[in-house]
Amino acid sequence: MATEKIILDVDTGSDDAVAIICAALSSKIELHSICTVWGNRPLSQTTENTLRVVDMLGIGEKVKVYPGCETSMVATLLANRHAGYGGQRKSVNGGEEKSMHQETIDELPPAHTLPQDKRAVMHYVDTIMNSEDGEFTLVPVGPLTNVAMALRVEPRIAKKIKQIVLMGGGCRRSNSTAAAEFNIWGDPEAAQIVMTCGAKVTVVPLDATQNACINSDEVAELYKLGTPAATCVADMIKHRIEAYSYLQPMDRLDSAPVHDALTVCYLIQPDVLEQVELVRCDVDISGGIADGQTIIDPRAYTDLPKNVNFAFFANRDKFSDLLFKILRGEG
Ligand code: RIB
Ligand code: CA
Repeated sequence: MATEKIILDVDTGSDDAVAIICAALSSKIELHSICTVWGNRPLSQTTENTLRVVDMLGIGEKVKVYPGCETSMVATLLANRHAGYGGQRKSVNGGEEKSMHQETIDELPPAHTLPQDKRAVMHYVDTIMNSEDGEFTLVPVGPLTNVAMALRVEPRIAKKIKQIVLMGGGCRRSNSTAAAEFNIWGDPEAAQIVMTCGAKVTVVPLDATQNACINSDEVAELYKLGTPAATCVADMIKHRIEAYSYLQPMDRLDSAPVHDALTVCYLIQPDVLEQVELVRCDVDISGGIADGQTIIDPRAYTDLPKNVNFAFFANRDKFSDLLFKILRGEG
């Protein structure tokens, strides 16, 4: 199987950290570079967290990190739309407010590798316009602001890249409002630009990721692998299980989805996703109660051309098995 040459776009974030580790360790992926974006945390923190993971992996010389956009394209212009950082928060029993993601990944030392001076948007434009057709796959797993801005600066990149595989959205699932998933809700306009840019787009939504949760028994097994990467993955998923237990309890209370890692794992072993269908998907940008919703047109004959491959399910056991294989250096 040929390797996928990817540019990963992250708002690190605990599941982004696991995605970076999977992309770096898998023999089926060439992790070319990483762009950071606002989202789970402000850009300065998502960039620091990304660099901490890069340093833990020892790949700072090979994999450069390009900071991207500080906020959404236009959503912040209307007060009630901004997603805010860190997704859901909640004060537990009236006490301290807990967020889904740590401000900094405290299990890792402060980063020593510096980010690039060049910004993510121009990194995308320059790298892709100087590449072979079909050379790069873009893997955005945060708000789509960087990718959308790059498409606005240079629309021709849509035809130059192989595909976009993004984590975001939901058909029957949401997490940030009754209608929307965080990455899309954070920048609905950016999401609509990406979904309709003309490139091959695969969407890995909550319908897939929330059906592929990793549980505390598996976390215990991850710790037993004993490597810095496996320990970091176990730490991240342990944090997620704690946060999900009071923010978004899953069917199995001691489990949590690892959205961004599943997205990367799809490129390593595509059958971790199931019920992947070509559909017509648009994003509500109206600013109302459905703002940021990914709307799938269920009709056989859609008014507009079908534009994305949408994964309506995932295979949890295959995802878990693959995660362990990657961390054992076999994936
Ligand atoms: O809704 C889940 C997504 O939002 C994940 O990418 C998570 O990291 C956050 O960015
Ligand atoms: Ca993310």
